[in-house]
Amino acid sequence: MHFFKYKNNELFAEDVPVKKLAEKYGTPLYVYSHATLLRHFMAYDDAFDGYPHIICFAAKANSNMAILRLFAKNGGGADIVSGGELFTALKAGIPSKKIVYAGVGKTDDEIRFALRSKILMFNVESEDELKRINELAGKMKTKAPIALRINPDIDPETHPYISTGLKKHKFGIPIDDAVEHYKTASRLRNISVIGIHKHIGSQITKVSPFVDALKRILILLDELDGQGVNIRYLDIGGGLGISYKNEEPPVPKDLAKSLLPLLKKRKLTLIMEPGRSIAGNAGILVTKTLYLKECEDKEFIIVDAGMNDLMRPSLYNAYHRILPLKKGRRTETFADVVGPICESGDFLAKERELPKVRQGEYLAVMSAGAYGFSMSSNYNSRPRPAEVMVKGREDFLIRERETYKTLIDGEKIPEFLK
Ligand code: LLP
Repeated sequence: MHFFKYKNNELFAEDVPVKKLAEKYGTPLYVYSHATLLRHFMAYDDAFDGYPHIICFAAKANSNMAILRLFAKNGGGADIVSGGELFTALKAGIPSKKIVYAGVGKTDDEIRFALRSKILMFNVESEDELKRINELAGKMKTKAPIALRINPDIDPETHPYISTGLKKHKFGIPIDDAVEHYKTASRLRNISVIGIHKHIGSQITKVSPFVDALKRILILLDELDGQGVNIRYLDIGGGLGISYKNEEPPVPKDLAKSLLPLLKKRKLTLIMEPGRSIAGNAGILVTKTLYLKECEDKEFIIVDAGMNDLMRPSLYNAYHRILPLKKGRRTETFADVVGPICESGDFLAKERELPKVRQGEYLAVMSAGAYGFSMSSNYNSRPRPAEVMVKGREDFLIRERETYKTLIDGEKIPEFLK
């Protein structure tokens, strides 16, 4: 459920016509709905009500400070994967004790920063990393709270690029080696073992992979308990899918219904790391049609947003619905919606059935709130889009459009070339 709807044939973000935003802020433009973000966040919170839990929004899905702040204000935390995300999450007001830190390649600087910040826990992905964290914590005369990220070898049945929980993936510690690693961790002086973590993939549209993975983790938990390793935090990662086209993914309530009975008798704090299922359908990318180009057996709609603004179609062949801001009776055509980037792979949609679009017309690329702006780049020296949050009748600029000046910030011409 989201709050981007047609009213009298005109697309609205909550109570604001999207066209008004496009005219006010220019395009390409990311527009987020406050009510949708909040509703999706609360859907998790309500579903798991009654069991101790923290919802650590996956900052990688959308790390805009205003969005992180919204979750912070409602009791949320953050799942981070870099020093940059830690910095942003803290600046946004996320309490450090609600921050969990995953990722296979944490650097010394990043580890020190997280130790200084006193985050809830490191989700450790290898023995080498564990030892490094132990060393650095020792030098800082502190103890690092950790969970091991366990790779449960479960197929989430999603796109191979966003599947992470199989043996062949680089993520986590193989479940068969987990006990050994936990024993090692428990012996390390500057490590405090407090949790267990898993994340099996993204855009998962069934409950069963979550249930199967959790069952495996719980068997491991019992084994660890037998070995005297006390686990207090169970982090089940993110991964719940959304509807981009006609998928019918489970909602947090379905997840809770299947998972909570398995946890009933255990005294744990549950951590979840949803990203896409909170932000995905809470954002759109608004773009303007620059040119129409009809070739012999192909039609192109050339728009002002490219793969640098929204990379998912090019990278994963991902489907994003594209809607005109004004609905009306028009003939349908098949066209490729392409951006201005000099790459054949620069498209937002291929062979898409669309109402005949006019030059200058605005289009909304739907479901762009997660992994949209956060994966954008400056390729082709394109300033990244502005981001706006709509709340009811009001709109707020939450990130300025980049300028030509920002493009060259930090660049330097060496003396010898002057
Ligand atoms: N936790 C961990 C450790 C993760 O690696 C991820 C996502 C999440 C949580 C959040 O997963 P979500 O709830 O959003 O599915 N760029 C890709 C998605 C990559 C996901 C990476 N990890 C895309 O645009 O589809």
